[in-house]
Amino acid sequence: MTRTVAISPFPDQKPGTSGLRKKVPLFQTPGYTEAFIQSIFDSLEGMEGESLVIGGDGRFYNRDVIQIAIRMAAANGFGRVVIGKGGILSTPAASHLIRKRQAFGGLILSASHNPGGPTEDFGIKYNISNGGPAPEKITDAIYARSRTIDRYLIAEFDDVDLDKIGDFEADGMAIEVVDPVAEYAELMETLFDFDAIRAHVAGGFRVAFDAMHAVTGPYAREILVRRLGVDPALVINAFPLEDFGGHHPDPNLVHAKQLYDQMMGPDAPDFGAASDGDGDRNLVIGRGIFVTPSDSLAILAANAHLAPGYKAGLKGIARSMPTSGAADRVAAKLGVEMHETPTGWKFFGNLLDAGRCTICGEESAGAGSDHVREKDGLWAILLWLNILAVRRQSVREIVHGHWAEYGRTYYSRHDYEALDTESANQLMAALDGKLSLLPGRKVGSLTIEKADNFAYQDPIDGSVSRNQGIRIFFEGGSRLVFRLSGTGTSGATLRIYMERYQPDPTRHDEETQSVLAPLILAARDLAEIGKWTGRDAPTVIT
Ligand code: G1P
Ligand code: ZN
Repeated sequence: MTRTVAISPFPDQKPGTSGLRKKVPLFQTPGYTEAFIQSIFDSLEGMEGESLVIGGDGRFYNRDVIQIAIRMAAANGFGRVVIGKGGILSTPAASHLIRKRQAFGGLILSASHNPGGPTEDFGIKYNISNGGPAPEKITDAIYARSRTIDRYLIAEFDDVDLDKIGDFEADGMAIEVVDPVAEYAELMETLFDFDAIRAHVAGGFRVAFDAMHAVTGPYAREILVRRLGVDPALVINAFPLEDFGGHHPDPNLVHAKQLYDQMMGPDAPDFGAASDGDGDRNLVIGRGIFVTPSDSLAILAANAHLAPGYKAGLKGIARSMPTSGAADRVAAKLGVEMHETPTGWKFFGNLLDAGRCTICGEESAGAGSDHVREKDGLWAILLWLNILAVRRQSVREIVHGHWAEYGRTYYSRHDYEALDTESANQLMAALDGKLSLLPGRKVGSLTIEKADNFAYQDPIDGSVSRNQGIRIFFEGGSRLVFRLSGTGTSGATLRIYMERYQPDPTRHDEETQSVLAPLILAARDLAEIGKWTGRDAPTVIT
């Protein structure tokens, strides 16, 4: 039986870079979660009798929202829901399942790398039938609907047993609970040479992985340990916890410190990797060397042909605007298209669907390919392992060899977190206001060549996205980018991205922050960071 429940709209349900992210207590406000899910359903057409994939990263409140989503899917006319056992689906596995089942779409419940728990973060994201995040046209419609919504529809039946794999039925809707790992692992076997990786591991190549008590634990246990023979003692935090053990499931040098220290220490393994809350990000560290995500993207693109799934070569490469230009040099050498898109995976969807690129990546530890429509942490790690198994070199040798061939792009991101939103907006507006005056101006030792506010026109559907970050280019090829985060749940986060290209191989072993020092000073000066934020240093440097 379906119930119609009257509600008043909530004013703050605007999806950000990656869906709606808020604190758990807000999602627990009566009607809040339902209003957002109904706004999604009301923005779609033709879901009658179709399938919907539902899964999440296992964080606190995941199971409750899945039960709500199942009942609302039934009430809104879906014919089938496909759910990961235990409510678990990594974001890339959900994307794969949507594609494989030819589902109408999917609800992915995650706040990615943000902390989880009763007072921490939760998130809901809608993905379309290509398996990718809904494009802005749809997220704008969802937001518009959320401003006027006055009721939601929900079926009344008992909670579904999420821990039992099998086919069930409620209120005329089919309910399928599936193994979250099996189909994803099969897909990986089609892309990579598991025999070669297994042989390399058996020959003594030591792989360490940190699942950060998040969703990739079960995937890593099945794929890395069971199928590839990785030593289980080196796969840490491999069981998902609702609060990620009290940590941020963010695979960076701050939050994956245990892995980082291990990789920099004596007797380090040969390869270290980590993934985030929902399994779409990756961190790659060789023995004694951290690989920046921008470099990792370039190296994966340059070597992808060594893996069976990419042996025909790449159709093109795409990167988000703030990501370094390292991949552009690879595209130029390969003679394939290079695309520069706004931040967020949703902008890659059209390019991938149209066959205009094969590999995409972001500086925020995201890489992926046309095998799904999300970034994919384990995919990146497996591609690295495949390349290492074929080349039989260390990570350090591969990275230095890449720099010798293409030049090195020194790169860093400085984040100023938890800023007052109003001041952060003023900082950006002030900077935006003086862009036309900047060309020709000297800042310390640097001279500004050009400056703009990045706008992107999608080459496939022609849609235009403006105000995607301020870019300042300097003579000699250095660049500064400023933008405000679209994924935070409290205050504002200012992100400043810096890069400097160095072609000379005798200068590839310098310390990144020192190399970037002139850009760091220029950023403070140009954006008047101290004046607007009262801060004299960033909170996180990656
Ligand atoms: C951040 C990253 C961005 C990524 C997004 C979702 O968004 O910067 O690259 O796509 O998380 O994982 P931001 O907070 O910068 O808007
Ligand atoms: Zn994520």
